[in-house]
Amino acid sequence: MRTFIVLLGPPGAGKGTQAQIVAETLQLAHISSGDLFRENLKGQTELGKQAQDFINRGELVPDDLTIAMVRDRLQRPDCAQGALLDGFPRTPAQADALTEMLADLDGKVVCVPCINVPSEVLVERLGGRWTCRAQGHVYHQLYNPPKETGKCDIDGSELYQRDDDKPETVANRIRVYLAQTSPLIEYYQKRGLLAEIDGTQEISAVTADLLAAIRKD
Ligand code: AP5
Repeated sequence: MRTFIVLLGPPGAGKGTQAQIVAETLQLAHISSGDLFRENLKGQTELGKQAQDFINRGELVPDDLTIAMVRDRLQRPDCAQGALLDGFPRTPAQADALTEMLADLDGKVVCVPCINVPSEVLVERLGGRWTCRAQGHVYHQLYNPPKETGKCDIDGSELYQRDDDKPETVANRIRVYLAQTSPLIEYYQKRGLLAEIDGTQEISAVTADLLAAIRKD
């Protein structure tokens, strides 16, 4: 049976930062729905064009487009053992669709860590975030700075600030999370899969708590 981990948490909680470390440690594929959308935006694909306005406004891309994109991604060979899902599902309809998709793939969700961080900290984190163009490695100008300003430590590519990290868009993303995604906390709690993680700690301490929660299951 393939094992899947769903990482929940508001924008800026540290999902991407942690997913890269945890997926590598557990040798699982890292699937970020946000990264998949950004690749489509960059390539100006039909999906990218359809998703662009939603992303720029800090709203969710409609479920049908998002589910089809993730279904397609899960077919790739790197998901043979399972995957760490970062940013998907984000609505109960997406969560139901995931359960169906995994049943077809002989897989199931085994753990859903939710990284908790208060809203005021999220705004500060996203305001100082720098992301690498090549592979989406994430830095923060104060909390996790690159060795060389503007350059990724891992692949040397240019660092940039995301368009949807503008303060007004961040505020909307947090509202959208609370209204549309936070119901998934109860959804997975009822299924006995939720693990609450304190995301205000240092990055390495959050990683340790995540790995402990995942290995317990
Ligand atoms: P997406 O890219 O998924 O954005 P998000 O969920 O808003 O999450 P972020 O990437 O902003 O934050 P993160 O939690 O990964 O934090 P990070 O590790 O970078 O989605 C973007 C858009 O795509 C959505 O708004 C939507 O439009 C669309 N979309 C995506 N998925 C969708 C779906 N399923 N359905 C519909 N639409 C969808 O960390 C943030 C900063 O904090 C960094 O600078 C980092 O260095 C720093 N940091 C991390 N951890 C710590 C720590 N412990 N202490 C101090 N600083 C830290």
